[in-house]
Amino acid sequence: MSGMVQYKTGTDGIDWEALGDLYEKVGLVAQFGKKRDLEKIRQAFQSSYKVVTAWKGVKLVGAGRLISDGLCYGTVYDVGVLESCRREGVGKGIMEALLKGNEHLLVYLTSTFGNEDFYRKLGFKKHKTAYAKYPHESEYLE
Ligand SMILES: CC(C)(COP(=O)(O)OP(=O)(O)OC[C@H]1O[C@@H](n2cnc3c(N)ncnc32)[C@H](O)[C@@H]1OP(=O)(O)O)[C@@H](O)C(=O)NCCC(=O)NCCS
Repeated sequence: MSGMVQYKTGTDGIDWEALGDLYEKVGLVAQFGKKRDLEKIRQAFQSSYKVVTAWKGVKLVGAGRLISDGLCYGTVYDVGVLESCRREGVGKGIMEALLKGNEHLLVYLTSTFGNEDFYRKLGFKKHKTAYAKYPHESEYLE
C-alpha cells in the first residue's frame, strides 16, 4: 500500500477503535493491543509525552509514543506499522517525528526480535548494562 503519508502529533482526534485495530494486528502496548483493551490503550497514550500517528488519507497505518520528563530522559515505545505498509519509510518517519525537538534527551528503547537493524539505522546503539523488570515472564529477559 503506497501513497503519501502524513504524520500527526498528539492524541486529539485519534479514533481509539482504529488505534486498537492497529495494535491488535501489530501487538505491542504491553499486551493490551492483542487483548484489544481500548480503554488502557487510550489512557496509556493520553499519559504519554508525545504521540505520533501516521496516516494514508483517512487510514491509520502506524503509530508510536515517547514517555519522558522532557528534560533528561525519554523512552520510545509501541512503534508499529501495518504489515501492508512496511519498508516504505513509515516507521522511520514516526521515529523522526517522535525525536524531533527532543534531541537533548537520553533515549532508551527495546527492539522486538528481528527489528534491531531498524533502530541501528536510526543511530541507536546496544546498551552494555541496560536492565529491565517486567510484571510477567518475557523471552526478552536473560
Ligand atoms: C519495526 C517496524 C516499526 C519498522 O517499520 P517500517 O515502516 O517497515 O520501517 P522503515 O520502512 O521506516 O525502515 C527504515 C529503515 O530500516 C530498515 N528496516 C526496517 N525494518 C527492518 C528490519 N526488521 N530489519 C532490518 N532493517 C529494517 C528499512 O529497510 C529501512 O532501511 P533504509 O533506510 O536503509 O532504507 C515495523 O516492522 C513494525 O511495525 N513491526 C512490528 C511491530 C514491532 O515489532 N515494532 C517494534 C517495536 S520496538
